[in-house]
Amino acid sequence: MSLDLSSDTSARPTTRYGSNSGQPLTRRDGILKVTGQATYAADNHPAQLAYAVMVGATIARGRVTAMDVEAASRHPGIIEVFTPDNAPAFAHDPDEKMPPFGFRLELLQNHSVRYAGQPIALVVAETLEAATEGAHLLQPVYETDEARTGLENGVQFDPQAVGVGGPPSTSHGNLDTAFAASETIVEAEYSTPAQYHNAMEPHAVVAEWNGNHLTLDMPNQALAMSCASYARYFDIPVENVVIRSPFLGGGFGSKAILNGPQILAIAAARKLKRPVKLALTRAQMYGPVGHRGQTWQTLRMGLSADGRLKAIHHRSISATSSFDDFLEPAANASLPLYAADALLAEHKGLRLDIGTPGPMRAPGEASGSAALEVAIDEAAEACGLDPLEFRLLNYAESEPGSGRPFSSKALRECYERGAEVFGWQQRLRAPRTMRDDNGLLVGWGMGTAVFPCPMFPAQARTTVRADGSVLVETGGVDMGQGAWTALAQIAAEALGLEAHEIEFRSGVSTLPDAGVAGGSGHTASAGLALSNSGLDALAKLAEIATNDPDSPLFGAGNIGVLPRGGRLVRRDDESRGERFADILTRAKQSEVIGEAKSMREPGNAEKFAMYSHGAVFAEVKVDPDLGQIRTTRMVGAFAAGRVINPRLVRSQYYGGMIWGTSFALHEAALIDHRTGRVMNADLAEYHVPVNADVPSLEAILVAEDDPYVNAIGVKGVGEIGITGTVGAIANAVWHATGRRVRNFPIHIEDIL
Ligand code: MOS
Repeated sequence: MSLDLSSDTSARPTTRYGSNSGQPLTRRDGILKVTGQATYAADNHPAQLAYAVMVGATIARGRVTAMDVEAASRHPGIIEVFTPDNAPAFAHDPDEKMPPFGFRLELLQNHSVRYAGQPIALVVAETLEAATEGAHLLQPVYETDEARTGLENGVQFDPQAVGVGGPPSTSHGNLDTAFAASETIVEAEYSTPAQYHNAMEPHAVVAEWNGNHLTLDMPNQALAMSCASYARYFDIPVENVVIRSPFLGGGFGSKAILNGPQILAIAAARKLKRPVKLALTRAQMYGPVGHRGQTWQTLRMGLSADGRLKAIHHRSISATSSFDDFLEPAANASLPLYAADALLAEHKGLRLDIGTPGPMRAPGEASGSAALEVAIDEAAEACGLDPLEFRLLNYAESEPGSGRPFSSKALRECYERGAEVFGWQQRLRAPRTMRDDNGLLVGWGMGTAVFPCPMFPAQARTTVRADGSVLVETGGVDMGQGAWTALAQIAAEALGLEAHEIEFRSGVSTLPDAGVAGGSGHTASAGLALSNSGLDALAKLAEIATNDPDSPLFGAGNIGVLPRGGRLVRRDDESRGERFADILTRAKQSEVIGEAKSMREPGNAEKFAMYSHGAVFAEVKVDPDLGQIRTTRMVGAFAAGRVINPRLVRSQYYGGMIWGTSFALHEAALIDHRTGRVMNADLAEYHVPVNADVPSLEAILVAEDDPYVNAIGVKGVGEIGITGTVGAIANAVWHATGRRVRNFPIHIEDIL
């Protein structure tokens, strides 16, 4: 008798979560990184390597009319100077977008300059020093057109004036009616600055061609997608492209998209028939590889006499480039959170002579939440309500707009736990009423955190061998967030093993596609594929064993089997079972291979609204004479489904809250509008928090069981920590000083 395991679900091996997942394992790559054994893309030096240096435009708009290619070429060691006059041809027009992350690229297709920092030449030499000197010798001459590089440049705040592609406007309910029925209307304008990813590891690539085969060492958040794009640009079969991305020094979204400079190095390597390395300098990160675009937002809220939100109208204008359409979908931050009769989120783009912005850590959510959470604080104050009380009064029991139920939403518990640990009850409502023993003004503020739960198509493979060893593979990317550790835990758990008992392979595009490491969806997407591939391998083992009269599992097909410590056991009697190795050996099979894809249960994505939630409470202290602001204490409570590894999850929340601190008080790229160049394009002048800026942090993991989000119950934790935090700090500054600052980052001069 044979059993059809695909139709008889009771015979499928099931797994009991909790043994392996939930363990606070340290990062598997941690020791390699801190001892310098982890190699990054730029650490690769294949034989015959040539070095490329990118030359970036120093004007924001115009044309390159001359470059001294001769002088550069004469310099010892120079191999070739690429300019628009001899640029390699591309199979795909770089000015044509390539979905899904289809950004227009700057590949020396003509002499025009569309932003400062745009690649205008690539110099390749025998050494980095020679290439650098060659780049200096080019001395480009420009014909400069007047450039627009910011709102400060005289562009009016006029939503009618601009309109480019981007996130659609979303609305529900009748805004006019809701505002007409409102007792109080609160309205204000907010702004957020341009920010740059500034990963520790700047973008780098080592490109090597072997005939029509291309091997790339590069930090990359989306291996399979990038392979497909490179295959199109260079007109080769996708299986000829291999990307190795074992370690990344951060990505934050900028390494998920294709940009010009890297592709130029690949083209140069093909032309020169030598491997070529290109590593961007820190300053070159400010332009051609994306950034968080500036936003100008207005929020208008209508309130009933008892403090209920009747209407929210959130408009955002985002800066984008003159040649592409990426917009921060900031206004969408107002859609999922607060119950209002009517909602309208609108987006417009403002075309500027800047590099195209792109996704950067909570793209849209971070900027939008900053404005929304301050506006909510203002609304609470206008109603004479405590900010937490106001949020609870306007708590959305179902998704505003769609009315869909949430797959899970433990936000109420986040509010409760966070407030309790922070001591929110001790807060005096009026601003400027709390001081510490040293006479510093003390302010307490809060914000709500929220982030959606996207999933990307992902695949994985699990091989169980006759010697009992287990190999688990997926082309996942660890940017430092701990993906390899968490993914190995998920994979091991599905097999009833501990993480150290499996061999886990990842970080190269020849493995099954693990989807994008982005959108806070990597663990859920790749993790689900891994879990399913393990279950598939176990199902194959179970099929062999339950049909083998010599197996203690014979006939257990209808009862079901479970994986336990490298054995399959009977569900009804866990003492009866046998080792994976014995099942295979007796069957004279060297291995079984389980394969799977990530998939949500059909229909769940439509039926349920899926978000991670959190509540952030912040304390700031402000010097009443000097205006110096410090965050001194933050408590965030987050609910994001099942916690795979509390150590790593907590560190994601810390990272998010620290980035929120950065957003609120430190971080901004400043453009000199005379030249259109970023003035603070380095880590000395581009302020990010150092240890002294980081307050005492506490991240509370609120338990949340989500049966719908996906079969492993995992939501995202990567980006949510920025949301909520920015508003919490701004609201704390208001509470300390009585000054409502709506432009980020908040500076001393804003509160004096
Ligand atoms: Mo991110 S902006 O999803 O790496």
